Amino acid sequence: MSSPKKLFIKTYGCQMNVYDSERMAEAMGNEGYLLTEVQEEADMVLLNTCHIREKASEKLYSDLGRLKPLKAAKPDLKIGVAGCVAQAEGAEILKRMPLVDLVVGPQSYHRLPEMARAPEKTVDTEFPVEDKFDLLPERKAPRGPSAFLTVQEGCDKFCAFCVVPYTRGAEVSRPVGRILDEARKLVERGVRDITLLGQNVNAYHGEGPGGAWTLARLIRALAEINGLARIRYTTSHPNDMDDDLVAAHGDLPALMPYLHLPVQSGSDRILKAMNRKHTAESYLRLVERIRAARPDILLSSDFIVGFPGETDRDFADTMDLIRAVGFGQAFSFKYSARPGTPAAEKDPVEAAIADARLQELQALITTQQRAAQLAMVGREVGVLYDKPGRLPGQLVGKSDHLHAVFVEDAQGKVGDLVRVRIVASSSNSLAAERIG
Ligand code: SAH
Ligand code: SF4
Ligand code: F3S
Repeated sequence: MSSPKKLFIKTYGCQMNVYDSERMAEAMGNEGYLLTEVQEEADMVLLNTCHIREKASEKLYSDLGRLKPLKAAKPDLKIGVAGCVAQAEGAEILKRMPLVDLVVGPQSYHRLPEMARAPEKTVDTEFPVEDKFDLLPERKAPRGPSAFLTVQEGCDKFCAFCVVPYTRGAEVSRPVGRILDEARKLVERGVRDITLLGQNVNAYHGEGPGGAWTLARLIRALAEINGLARIRYTTSHPNDMDDDLVAAHGDLPALMPYLHLPVQSGSDRILKAMNRKHTAESYLRLVERIRAARPDILLSSDFIVGFPGETDRDFADTMDLIRAVGFGQAFSFKYSARPGTPAAEKDPVEAAIADARLQELQALITTQQRAAQLAMVGREVGVLYDKPGRLPGQLVGKSDHLHAVFVEDAQGKVGDLVRVRIVASSSNSLAAERIG
């Protein structure tokens, strides 16, 4: 018997790519490919790429460059490029990097097995009418107690800086029935914690019994599944937080007290230029409503500094907004001009100024993150163990508020959902003792 072929996948970018890589690994599993962590022993290398900032897309080309000796030593090695750079650059990738065998965009992953079998080079960056999820094989073996589940893909918002509407296409919601089915099957396989994914997840409007369902309605149905203890969703747009979704944070114990709600800037002038369609004030009012429903919720956000036209005054408004909200954590980026987006036409802010703003903003976020962690000390929260700690008898897991928590618990095991009391906070994690 011939030994199984080996597939190495490298995943860049967001959680949706992580989910997609898992689904592609399963599809290729049906073709006799086993996953390997060692690139050198692979028969196929798949790079699942991100196009969001220039640095992210450049990584693809440096990684492809590094694959040249391996391809020279193993001429049968298949090299595939998937994800958002594949979608954005398509056949250009083959021209620039002849060692690539196939280029597959995010809406065509169901075609990956046949593309991998093809002797010639193949490119598929169509936005087909059929739903790729209907055509991808079922998920069989989740690795840990937590899983991602894509419910919505694509975006119709067209923020002036962002490539996602071009790389992921128009917003599409999966039907309710399929999502509930997939969630139940994940739970049967031991998953207790599901994060619903979508580029604009709270714009969800999938077909369900009686017509289109909102995200809140979907979450309420998921919360009924026995054994599904934790639900989160990401990423949301502030304008799509409807009253029912806000209320769900107060009503549903399974809906975890953590919400990633990107605001990007605190300056109304810049928000307008970004085509965000919300103001700093409307964001602050939304935060109030969410906190009224769930007072202990931890909020996270994304920020862009150095968007074209951003003045010191605009940046000061962003810092004011951060101080007014008090975030549990946040991701912040220096603006990167992306080909084909409206903002790329405008004059950039001087790099040194943008760098200085980014540092200042990150310092403030770090202070807030530490304060939020310190405020947890003495509190009782749930922790879902997801891996062993460094020390014997120690386990690590995520708290309800998504903090990494270390617990001395010789009796516990990965997958247990336990109650703990937080006893200490260090720079990026908390320590706790088990109480139940
Ligand atoms: N759908 C999500 C996030 C998409 S991308 C949302 O609407 O918020 C993740 C983050 O990358 C964005 O929130 C934004 O902060 C950042 N980002 C997107 N395009 C960027 C660009 N051109 N330059 C710098 N950061 C960018
Ligand atoms: Fe990009 Fe998010 Fe804006 Fe959509 S809502 S264009 S994904 S930043
Ligand atoms: Fe990147 Fe595409 Fe996700 S551009 S952030 S991998 S949607």
